[in-house]
Amino acid sequence: MIQALLLSALVAGALSCGLPTYLPQLPRVVGGQDAVPNSWPWQVSLQYSSSGEWRHTCGGSLVANNWVLTAAHCISSSRTYRVVLGRHSLSTEEAGSVTIMVSKLVVHEDWNSSQLSKGNDIALLKLASPVSLNDKVQLACLPPAGSILPNNYACYVTGWGRLQTNGALPDILQQGRLLVVDYATCSSSGWWGSTVKTNMVCAGGDGVISSCNGDSGGPLNCRAANGQWEVHGVVSFGSSLGCNYYHKPSVFTRVSNYIDWINSVIANN
Ligand SMILES: *[C@@H]1O[C@H](CO)[C@@H](O)[C@H](O)[C@H]1NC(C)=O
Repeated sequence: MIQALLLSALVAGALSCGLPTYLPQLPRVVGGQDAVPNSWPWQVSLQYSSSGEWRHTCGGSLVANNWVLTAAHCISSSRTYRVVLGRHSLSTEEAGSVTIMVSKLVVHEDWNSSQLSKGNDIALLKLASPVSLNDKVQLACLPPAGSILPNNYACYVTGWGRLQTNGALPDILQQGRLLVVDYATCSSSGWWGSTVKTNMVCAGGDGVISSCNGDSGGPLNCRAANGQWEVHGVVSFGSSLGCNYYHKPSVFTRVSNYIDWINSVIANN
């Protein structure tokens, strides 16, 4: 019990999380741009092995020194995965960057890939060995259970995914400022309607910038009042009409709905 409490304190990250050594640049304008190197130090590249090569497939967030949070739809149980941490350019072997194999895949039990709109698009990946935290590899904070961000709260989506429909895959980590669209708005007709559930967060939909496919599983980073960055969302889906379609914001798994699940998976694996 004491161990479980201690563990949840570590995971919830009251201690050291969400405080990058290299501060991100936070433009007030909406738009995608190269991140400051290593300014989102919990961002990982999830890669799978395919005919002898490792391919970037999704993003993820380091939430404990041996656990990465990502999206269930990123995971195929038949594949072999690794994560690359502390990276800025995917194609460059950077000093301080670490690569670790994934030893266990835990996909949410209520995830059903034929029912994306039911949500539960969340998974945890256990690393084969704990990573040593350094100035480029740090933990994300998780939000308090049940917390809901207000409409228009500014957050940042990060990843190596396309920032434009059918655009090229960037080599440098990208960030994009997205404003939260509250559930009442996002679930209204003309927006996502009933496709969006309360276990999701919407952000974007201004028709200018959004996350795209390659960002799947990556974080929606939102700064709390105390200055710590919390991962409020896991990139889940967007509009088939395009990455940045007007009134079709990116949809994220709402992490604050899954705090108990995250803590129990980590405690029991
Ligand atoms: C997943 O959803 C499909 C389509 O609705 C359904 O036929 C199937 O039984 C579901 N699978 C599970 C494991 O619930």
